[in-house]
Amino acid sequence: MKHTERSQALYQRACKSIAGGHLSNFKQRPGAPQTFFERFEGARMYDVDGNLYYDWSLSSGPCILGQASPVVRDAIVEQAGKCYSRQYTQVQIEAAELFCRYVPCADKMHFAVTGGESLLYTIRTARAYTGKNMVVRFSGMYHGGTDVVLGGVARGGDDRRAENRWNENDDYSRACYTTGRARHALDDVYLIDFNDLEQMEQLFRADNDIACVVMEPVCMNISGCVPQPGYLEGVRKLCDQYGVLLIFDETLTGFRIGLHSAQGYFGVTPDLASFAKAVCGGIPGAAFGGREDVMSVLDDCTCLIPGTYNGNSLSAAAMKAVITELARNDGEAYRIIERLGGMFRDGVLEAARRHGIPMIMQGFPGALFPVFTQREVIRNHREALLYSDLDKMHRFGALMKANGVVGDDRYCVSLAHTEEDVLRSVEIADRVLGIMKEEE
Ligand SMILES: Cc1ncc(COP(=O)(O)O)c(C=O)c1O
Repeated sequence: MKHTERSQALYQRACKSIAGGHLSNFKQRPGAPQTFFERFEGARMYDVDGNLYYDWSLSSGPCILGQASPVVRDAIVEQAGKCYSRQYTQVQIEAAELFCRYVPCADKMHFAVTGGESLLYTIRTARAYTGKNMVVRFSGMYHGGTDVVLGGVARGGDDRRAENRWNENDDYSRACYTTGRARHALDDVYLIDFNDLEQMEQLFRADNDIACVVMEPVCMNISGCVPQPGYLEGVRKLCDQYGVLLIFDETLTGFRIGLHSAQGYFGVTPDLASFAKAVCGGIPGAAFGGREDVMSVLDDCTCLIPGTYNGNSLSAAAMKAVITELARNDGEAYRIIERLGGMFRDGVLEAARRHGIPMIMQGFPGALFPVFTQREVIRNHREALLYSDLDKMHRFGALMKANGVVGDDRYCVSLAHTEEDVLRSVEIADRVLGIMKEEE
């Protein structure tokens, strides 16, 4: 058993001044004590009680170069010595040029600060361009904390067969039924299932006031569902046919699945795409980009994308440094991530097979999702609820953490990981799966 007394004491102290004692309460269990960290070395993190953890969460995804990368640190320290707030300096242009060079859809980009805000602005841009109102999104996908995209009881949800019900073990559905959201915020949203073109076409036929489809190109917030062959191409075609803009929310896939992000990886170019997390390597910063004609609605300032900290110098310096690092040697970073992620995936799957636990790994080498199921593939949120054991997924995550591996039900590789880190993490997964087998 790990000693956790100092973490527990800090948590009690935090609860007295920080509401709920947490920094972000999405996917949190009320009252579950947080672990407080104090030392970071590569992919290894040490908590205040001296316990070692291998980091596969990367602070919910962004730290693609690791938690304490000298690349990011040096960039922001150097920038802070000049200007650390938002002033027009050359660094924003340099970051924007790099962003547009590597993001296929981005003829132009605009800075934002967080993923949720950037996505909101992307939708606004789509509405301004099309003059239409409705937004189509997908059950099981998460697009940040704004009311417009946070919810399950969207218009058309139930009768279009998307899952709209509360499920204690399903973080997505728990988020959908939270309090305090505007009653009418979701009236302008349709909710459908990922990997189902028919539902989308039915909607497009029934409503000609649809401005955009918003999707994570890979379901990064539940079960790592990947687009089935031909699905994204089909979505692209339907959007073109019905005059609907296609938006990829690349908050998590952006610069993680590959240098050209999911749109490059799958070879399907959206009209607009929103980025955060890895694009700034762990420093707050976000951006969205898109086709020249679509982005031109921002030229005359009738469609507002305001923000005191949009393109602040520290974010821009981090973005420039991170993209430059990821692009080095023709994107060698992704070959490393692919190899290390592949080792982790194969090791964990082999351990599950040995223990006789039905499990698949979804996602891609840079972000892997262990899914406890008898099926060969889980294609969307509905199937995740029907055919996978979310209880086991949470138990696996909790035991992994108790044994020294931190993930978010999603295991992300960084360039700070070594083969040794991966091997130790697989050993821990093996031990955890053994415990789970005994618990059956
Ligand atoms: C796909 C996706 N979109 C948007 C967001 C929101 O980003 P942020 O937390 O920076 O607002 C997240 C956060 O996890 C995300 O996973």
